[in-house]
Amino acid sequence: MNKKINHISIIMDGNGRWAVERGLVRSLGHRAGIKSVQTIIDAALVRQIDTLTLFAFSSENWNRPNDEITILMSLFNESITKYMHELNKNNIKVEFIGDIERFNSTLREKIHKLITLTQNNTGLNLNFAVNYGGKWDIANAVNSLIREKGHNINYPITEKDIDDYLTLSNNPPDLLIRTGGDHRLSNFMLWQHAYTELYFTDCLWPNFNEVEFDKAIKYFLNTTRKFGGLVNIDDYKSNV
Ligand code: FPP
Repeated sequence: MNKKINHISIIMDGNGRWAVERGLVRSLGHRAGIKSVQTIIDAALVRQIDTLTLFAFSSENWNRPNDEITILMSLFNESITKYMHELNKNNIKVEFIGDIERFNSTLREKIHKLITLTQNNTGLNLNFAVNYGGKWDIANAVNSLIREKGHNINYPITEKDIDDYLTLSNNPPDLLIRTGGDHRLSNFMLWQHAYTELYFTDCLWPNFNEVEFDKAIKYFLNTTRKFGGLVNIDDYKSNV
């Protein structure tokens, strides 16, 4: 039975509650969350996970108070500057999914600098989903398809056509982890998570560490992946 875990996606929830529980302002929860990001990147490297995709800012997060958005943007800025060389030294290839055009030019430039710096790395693929929404991703894929193919589109449009233009659809997550106790996708890679194993934990993101990460991996290893079939797809393929 092939249980290799290639791709883990994470909804990092619970920063605000972590701070409020301690009588702190919410922004300190986000700052504490950066430490967990660091810990889990290191843990993914050690565990030789191929791809890690972190949901850092959803297209709906613009609905938060301006102060909180400003703080999150400056944390992203600060973190890129602080960690870009370490990420590169660790052979990590960083990419971003989402509509980064809405960010200010300073942040956009830093994002491009980090992507360019790490583009030839061959270790962990690290994706940050920023200003990302699953519905945006699907609409964007359809628009890109129409823009590129123009009058040459073959109708009906197939799943494969959409797959070809969607972010990360050639490598869908095997395991989604959501911290913070809620059991929902929150518009995160709606298409790509179609057959992903879902792991929910009450642990708040700033408390999430290697031990919690291993619990999620253990959960995944105990699941039976059927992809709509009857048995593990690899066993199935070898039996037909
Ligand atoms: C959700 O917690 C978290 C976010 C909206 C932001 C995620 C940001 C980080 C983990 C820190 C910075 C990350 C990077 C990549 C540098 P919440 O605020 O919704 O928590 P709550 O549900 O307790 O209110």
